[in-house]
Amino acid sequence: MTQNPPLVFDPATPRQQVQRQLSDLLATAGSQAAMTEARMLLCAALHIDHADLLREGERPIGAHAERLADLIARRLKHEPVSRILGRREFWGLDFSVSPAVLDPRPDTETLVEAVLAAIGSRRDERLRVLDLGTGSGALLCALLANFPGGFGLGVDVSEAACKIAAKNLAALGFAQRGQVVCGDWAEALRGSFDIIVSNPPYIAHAEIATLDPNVRDYDPHLALDGGDDGYAAYRALASVLPGLLAQDGVAVLELGIGQGPCVGKLLQAAGLVVMTTRRDLAGIERAIVAKMRPQDECRPSLSPFFGER
Ligand SMILES: C[S@@+](CC[C@H](N)C(=O)[O-])C[C@H]1O[C@@H](n2cnc3c(N)ncnc32)[C@H](O)[C@@H]1O
Repeated sequence: MTQNPPLVFDPATPRQQVQRQLSDLLATAGSQAAMTEARMLLCAALHIDHADLLREGERPIGAHAERLADLIARRLKHEPVSRILGRREFWGLDFSVSPAVLDPRPDTETLVEAVLAAIGSRRDERLRVLDLGTGSGALLCALLANFPGGFGLGVDVSEAACKIAAKNLAALGFAQRGQVVCGDWAEALRGSFDIIVSNPPYIAHAEIATLDPNVRDYDPHLALDGGDDGYAAYRALASVLPGLLAQDGVAVLELGIGQGPCVGKLLQAAGLVVMTTRRDLAGIERAIVAKMRPQDECRPSLSPFFGER
């Protein structure tokens, strides 16, 4: 989006008219969702909901003109609407987001779909769920919503992210069935899990500077940076998954564009079997699904909460 001169809105202008002006302004600045963004920012500035805006569209924006100008100016500097509002919807659930967490993306819902396709028939069992690199807790909460008997653990190396994830678990009513642990991948974990998901950082370090400013300047680099080749986190995950995944469990990892074959090889080399991959709505291979190689093996003793049954 381009830089604009300071914005001024006349407090006497009707809400609907301002909404149209904002939509045009955002579209001209390059927004792909200008109408929706205009509505969301206007509602936030006026402290009203969509229904109020429809019902009382002729009312002047009044004393909120200055706040509106501030929100729009932030958007024109590439700050995503979810960051401005501090909220993001994922899998139909409302999440709090902060600068410490990745803004959860619709693409990541592909992982939830992949889990449901692989193990959804067991949704009434007391399954143990692990989300490695939980960020806002979006995947963990979406899975707990779909597996009502499940217990979940979210892990993140960022303490600030862990606080947001714990806040979201509580706000969405999952505090009794979910925990958040701060740590480096599986370092602090013992146990066996039926469902393991991860959306790891997978952008090659040098590519980060070339990303869209909406991402580069607002998502935490800890959530993006996959090391020199983009595969550092996948290597770390491949090395710990065999020790964590139940024999009949399923592991689902998010993929960056074109990473499927290489991630598949890493998982196979670690002793897992790749079952399938799943595409997102744009047709991009977005999730890889793996299981343990069938074998009889002795597993270590486990914590009481996530213990072997
Ligand atoms: C791409 S974000 C995914 C966040 C969330 N799961 C989602 O899908 O929206 C990756 C997450 O992994 C976390 N992370 C990075 N390195 C980690 C590590 N060594 N151990 C645990 N978490 C890590 C980051 O802090 C970040 O929250």
